[in-house]
Amino acid sequence: MAIGAPTRIFHCSDVHFGVENRAALDAFAKAAVDERADLVLCTGDLTQRAKHFEFAAARDYFAQFDCPVVLCAGNHDMPYYDMWERFTDPYRRYRRLKSGISSAAFRSPDVVLVPLKSTVRIQPRFPWSDGFVTDEALAETIAHLKGLKGDKRQKLIICHHPLLGENEDAKNPTIGGDAAFAALAAAGGDVVISGHVHIPFDLTRERDGHSMRMLGVGTLSTRLRGSPPSYRVLTCALGQPIEAELRTLPEHTD
Ligand SMILES: [Fe+2]
Repeated sequence: MAIGAPTRIFHCSDVHFGVENRAALDAFAKAAVDERADLVLCTGDLTQRAKHFEFAAARDYFAQFDCPVVLCAGNHDMPYYDMWERFTDPYRRYRRLKSGISSAAFRSPDVVLVPLKSTVRIQPRFPWSDGFVTDEALAETIAHLKGLKGDKRQKLIICHHPLLGENEDAKNPTIGGDAAFAALAAAGGDVVISGHVHIPFDLTRERDGHSMRMLGVGTLSTRLRGSPPSYRVLTCALGQPIEAELRTLPEHTD
């Protein structure tokens, strides 16, 4: 990153290798390389069914970037057919993917990333695709935020599932999401960056006098849910609101 220049994060999500949109992925990669991204961030659902060949394709894709690459696991990234592996070691394939891509550490004078786990291998409802923030996962992220007390950089919480629903008056699909949002906002979180819904959003919500922004992007797969493929370029400068530029891409690749 050029000295004094803002930090530029290229954020994509839900690339779903197996049903990926190759043209959209190519457009994202070209932009990130040509525009010298400081970070490529993908907030989960790297694969469609957590198959080995899908993870291999995801590894090949994210390995092309020279800049730091930060990933999250999504609900699609735990084995779907191999229940034994799902219960005993659900993130084994995901860990192997991460070991095959850029290990360059992301450091920025403007922002700091704070991961939050929003996936669980099993939950007391169907489907198992929606988010679940456990007490343990929340405590880990809160501890991370507490360790950053006094740090003037914006704290970007990254996870797969949005913590709150699109509408305040509708049921929150993420179990534990309301409590997590309130606690993270109170602990100094500034922005939550996520995916999962395949529809972009940029919302600011307040709980107990603390506000926090929620940024989400669409998918770069063919699994569209009413919005075209999209990604964002986040321009982050110390003490300034993050500029969040949404870029949409064509739905059809032929
Ligand atoms: Fe998802």
